[in-house]
Amino acid sequence: MKILITGACGQLGRTLMDIKDEDKHEYIFTDAFPMMEGVLALDISDAEAVDKVVSDNDVQVIVNCAAYTDVAKAETEEEVAFKVNAEAPGTLAKAAARTGAVLIHISTDYVFDGKTNIAYAEDAEPAPLSAYGRSKLAGECAVIASGCHYIIIRSAWLFSRYGKNFVKTILEKTSSQPSVKVVEDQIGTPTFAGDLAEFIMYIIDNDMLDKEGVYNYTNEGVCSWYDLAWEVCDLSGHLCDVLPCKTSDFPTGVTRPAFSVLDKTKVKQTFCIEIPHWKDSLRFCMANMA
Ligand SMILES: NC(=O)c1ccc[n+]([C@@H]2O[C@H](COP(=O)([O-])OP(=O)(O)OC[C@H]3O[C@@H](n4cnc5c(N)ncnc54)[C@H](OP(=O)(O)O)[C@@H]3O)[C@@H](O)[C@H]2O)c1
Repeated sequence: MKILITGACGQLGRTLMDIKDEDKHEYIFTDAFPMMEGVLALDISDAEAVDKVVSDNDVQVIVNCAAYTDVAKAETEEEVAFKVNAEAPGTLAKAAARTGAVLIHISTDYVFDGKTNIAYAEDAEPAPLSAYGRSKLAGECAVIASGCHYIIIRSAWLFSRYGKNFVKTILEKTSSQPSVKVVEDQIGTPTFAGDLAEFIMYIIDNDMLDKEGVYNYTNEGVCSWYDLAWEVCDLSGHLCDVLPCKTSDFPTGVTRPAFSVLDKTKVKQTFCIEIPHWKDSLRFCMANMA
């Protein structure tokens, strides 16, 4: 297969680079501002450039890992967030529709408002609370409307050794501070980028690209950011007090869902997979941080 990966310098993109198998597939890794060897420049909001790379290279699968992911900043830059998270996936999807490529597009639990305490199935009514969530939902809609063959994967709370993520932030804070306060009233499920990347390659490797639809994929388990921080601190051996606090103690200007656990019944049944628990994947990730 010839696979185009966008956003290759981000958490998920870099993880996909780590597990690439060049005996099986040909890859084109791209990012808007590539700073890494083997990554080509492609701004997914440049429609002409997207069309050219998809058509000229006979791409069969596009994995869109590119996104505007700064949830707080998106509140004041909603237009930019929409350009990258909504319009650009539409452009990729139209290019895929024209050439017959399959688009694997990554979305988020933030399409939901979190005003329930029942895990969200794929067909639950989205109601994003933030500009980021609205832009990602618009991206899903643009992909579905394009007529391309697509697999949309909604994930959540990504962590890895790469980029900026909560696990790395907590590791840094707990190594340098006597205590750290973390919100206990936002509940979800962390996702190791390694597990998500393996799942994406599993779909491609096992000829499951025809299983069009929207799927939830996170690790197994449910926790608060506080629980996650506590676990990170415990595994690291850092001597720091991890203290619970409320979202209202730290106003950030962005409203996040209080409960964004995703129901994974559909993805597990459709693809016949088992998903690791977040605690196991966290342990693995932290053992391989360096
Ligand atoms: N991180 C999470 O907790 C989380 C949770 C749920 C879902 N997701 C979704 O999962 C996917 C991967 O997330 P991630 O954490 O790997 O994101 P990430 O680390 O922020 O990586 C995104 C990459 O896309 C690049 N990019 C931004 N604008 C671009 C453009 N116009 N054209 C091409 N590349 C562009 C970014 O470059 P710059 O760094 O230079 O901007 C970055 O290298 C995204 O769709 C995200 O919405 C993430």
